[in-house]
Amino acid sequence: MLDGKRILLIVGGGIAAFKALDLIRRLRERGAVVTPVLTRAAEEFVTPLSASALAAHKVYRDLFDLTDEAEMGHIELSRAADLVLVAPATADLMGKMASGLADDLASTLLMATDKRVLIAPAMNLRMWLHPAVQRNLALLKGDGVLIAGPNEGEMACGEYGPGRMAEPPEIVAAVEAALAEGPLKGRHVIVTSGPTHEPIDPVRYIANRSSGAQGAALARALTGLGADVTFVTGPAEVPPPGGVRVIRVETAQQMLEAVEAALPADAAVFAAAVADWRVANAAERKMKKDGSGRPPTLEFSENPDILARVSQLDEGRPCLVIGFAAETDDLVVNATAKRARKGCDWIVANDVSPATGIMGGDENAVTLITAAGAEQWPRMGKDQVANRLAQLISKALA
Ligand code: C5P
Repeated sequence: MLDGKRILLIVGGGIAAFKALDLIRRLRERGAVVTPVLTRAAEEFVTPLSASALAAHKVYRDLFDLTDEAEMGHIELSRAADLVLVAPATADLMGKMASGLADDLASTLLMATDKRVLIAPAMNLRMWLHPAVQRNLALLKGDGVLIAGPNEGEMACGEYGPGRMAEPPEIVAAVEAALAEGPLKGRHVIVTSGPTHEPIDPVRYIANRSSGAQGAALARALTGLGADVTFVTGPAEVPPPGGVRVIRVETAQQMLEAVEAALPADAAVFAAAVADWRVANAAERKMKKDGSGRPPTLEFSENPDILARVSQLDEGRPCLVIGFAAETDDLVVNATAKRARKGCDWIVANDVSPATGIMGGDENAVTLITAAGAEQWPRMGKDQVANRLAQLISKALA
């Protein structure tokens, strides 16, 4: 909940600005007090009257609105907030933020604030992928700005790709995560999630059926308890939750590098379904049939075991290292042996026989294996498994 939290909402001028109205409504439903600020361009998409009616609050539009003695100055306005939210954050606003320009009310507030800033970028995919925007994004992340989205999808201009603003519920979740002051506040947790893709050639790869649902649910639950989560994800079906630092990778090797770069951490949870093998003779160019009728022979080499490596670190090992074990037979025996072999603290074991419907489904039936033995949990939603595990992690780190 956002009871009484003050959100300064800066609405940039893009087609996604219409979603800002729904966002205001949802933030208020959660108990937040929303002060909207519209850029000049935003007013082409939404009217100050509708923003002010939904927010039940005065809308600020111009730097010179604030010169009146009766009004707050831009310093006070930006500092009175608990969080500054920019939605949609256009390429222009991101550029101003990254280079320190302050030539209108929105950019001046962003420079004057000492509070956390969360942006929800929205733009055409070509703009999003432009090196200048990506450069600005990296600068903003380095400045500690939190980013929600963007998502991949159909754009207003009819194209398809990354650049769609995160949906209002996702932005609300990211706001809650940014303001959360749970028992894991100040704790850094790394979560790996999703499958890995191991290339055969530039267009083909070996993958697995992991949807990334359990990893995403866990990251969300940990964020909900206030943790600072680094979410290292392979190409998963389920999008990452809001409010986490997302690092996207494809291969096991890249996942290992991303995890190592994210250390130190208080805890690390390895929910990813990492490919055990990669193609050793992956081709640099697309393989073609050579007319001989003989299929190519793939050779494999073993991937690094990320969980084992992190569990066995001499220096900088997280206090709590948790692995997952998807098994089809002798669940407890195999998972207990795995815990010992890899050197992790806990193993979350689950039966992924096709009859269970767990792989790709919404539910999970897990057995938690710790030094104290095996504890079987009843079958429950993946979100509930995540919440219960997050609570236990929080207790273990207390
Ligand atoms: O050995 P197995 O793949 O069953 O182990 C599962 C656990 O180990 C999971 O937590 C998975 O994320 C992790 N793992 C890993 N790196 C690998 C293989 C598995 O981190 N190369």
